[in-house]
Amino acid sequence: MQTVKENTWAKRESHSPGSEDQKKSGLDSIRIVGGKCLKGTITISGATTAALPLMCASLLVDEPLQLTNMPVTLGDIRTLTDVLNELGVTSALRADGVAILHARQIKSTTAPYDMVRKMRASVLVLGPLVARCGRAVVSLPGGCAIGTRPIDLHLAGLKAMGAEIVLKDGYVEASAPDGLKGAKIDFPIVSVGATENLMMAACLAKGETVLSNAACEPEIVDLGECLIAMGAKIEGLGTPVIRIAGGGGLKGATHAVIPDRIETGTYMIAVALAGGTVRLKNARLEHLTALIGPLESAGLQIERKDADVVVSRNGRPLKGADIMTKPYPGFPTDLQAQFMTMLTLSEGAGMVTETVFENRFMHVPELCRMGANITVHQGSAIVRGVPRLKGAEVMATDLRASVALILAGLVAEGETTVNRIYHLDRGYEDIVGKLRGCGAQIERLPAED
Ligand code: UD1
Repeated sequence: MQTVKENTWAKRESHSPGSEDQKKSGLDSIRIVGGKCLKGTITISGATTAALPLMCASLLVDEPLQLTNMPVTLGDIRTLTDVLNELGVTSALRADGVAILHARQIKSTTAPYDMVRKMRASVLVLGPLVARCGRAVVSLPGGCAIGTRPIDLHLAGLKAMGAEIVLKDGYVEASAPDGLKGAKIDFPIVSVGATENLMMAACLAKGETVLSNAACEPEIVDLGECLIAMGAKIEGLGTPVIRIAGGGGLKGATHAVIPDRIETGTYMIAVALAGGTVRLKNARLEHLTALIGPLESAGLQIERKDADVVVSRNGRPLKGADIMTKPYPGFPTDLQAQFMTMLTLSEGAGMVTETVFENRFMHVPELCRMGANITVHQGSAIVRGVPRLKGAEVMATDLRASVALILAGLVAEGETTVNRIYHLDRGYEDIVGKLRGCGAQIERLPAED
């Protein structure tokens, strides 16, 4: 099996996530002149939300884990690579989307605040580290723009598996000197991250772990399939009850990351808004069943063609539709902001109810500045369609809100400038290139000194 001797990532790229270059490019803007319809082909990248837990799975074995179809240019992938390097994992991330992560030896069991605060998904090192090393010290991630986002379910699960958990100076100190034990864990609410953390930890625990009310997201299935390729025994993936027979004995493996369903959905909504026909290559429609109905009733045509999806809207006005975000297979919270943008220009009204995160309507005031008519009451928003949006200078505070404003810019009259695109660089590969390739008038402007 191939070994990785050094961190070639640092060599390939002159800047790392925390570097001045990247911080500066995060302050760049995107300028869009609205009104062009979209025609062409967009290749969907590997899913960042699948890639991050998969990268953490590399901590479970002393052999290399090779991941293909990785969105290697994304900020979040770079940030997690830095965290893993800090723990002793050697990494090679190649421009062709292959990542090789080798945790031959864990040199540190501490994930420091400075790294974890940049990206919550870093807490996914906690389960694998304590399972493999009997100890982990991970900074508490803190709240974020879309809500308080605690990690109590991750911690309760590890406790049930025999870990001692101490919270000290903003850090979680988890220890299980004699190793973790399999446990029955019934989640009070569905959590993608807690399911991932505990599923990984359970692979190295002694005995069987049963996760009930587990998340069913395609990203969970993808992680489970990779763990199985590494030698884990897991049943029930994609259902609310997952059984993991622990005991270790894992080895290195090669695994292809699933296509990004949120990126796919975002471009489907882009076509609904802007009109035209776009072929989405490497898209998995079966992961988007909750989006297809509302998009079709709004007026989008969706067709599967071989391994691709072709979406088109020609002429007819969009119609309002109601959605409520829910854990998978419900409507994804990560597509809520984009769908709301579409409703702003639909005939009639639509209601958007957010049940997953408590503070995920930050795009609303910015959309209203562009002329949208939206009324928010607690977790619901009524969107009354308006004939047109007007371009404006806007700024967003999270990834999906930022992309919702790009979508609004594609159809707004005149020019829209989305400032501080740091969030977009975290989760959307080459969004400017992909949209421009389909005829959008969009460009990235460097930050002024
Ligand atoms: C993941 C995704 C994120 C997506 C979210 C929901 C990644 C990197 N991120 O985030 O893009 O929006 O799933 O589909 O994959 N909760 C608790 N206690 C916990 C954990 C979660 O109360 O210990 C709550 C959260 O505050 C939230 C809900 O559970 O209200 C769902 O969160 P969760 O599924 O854990 O989201 P993430 O895994 O953080």
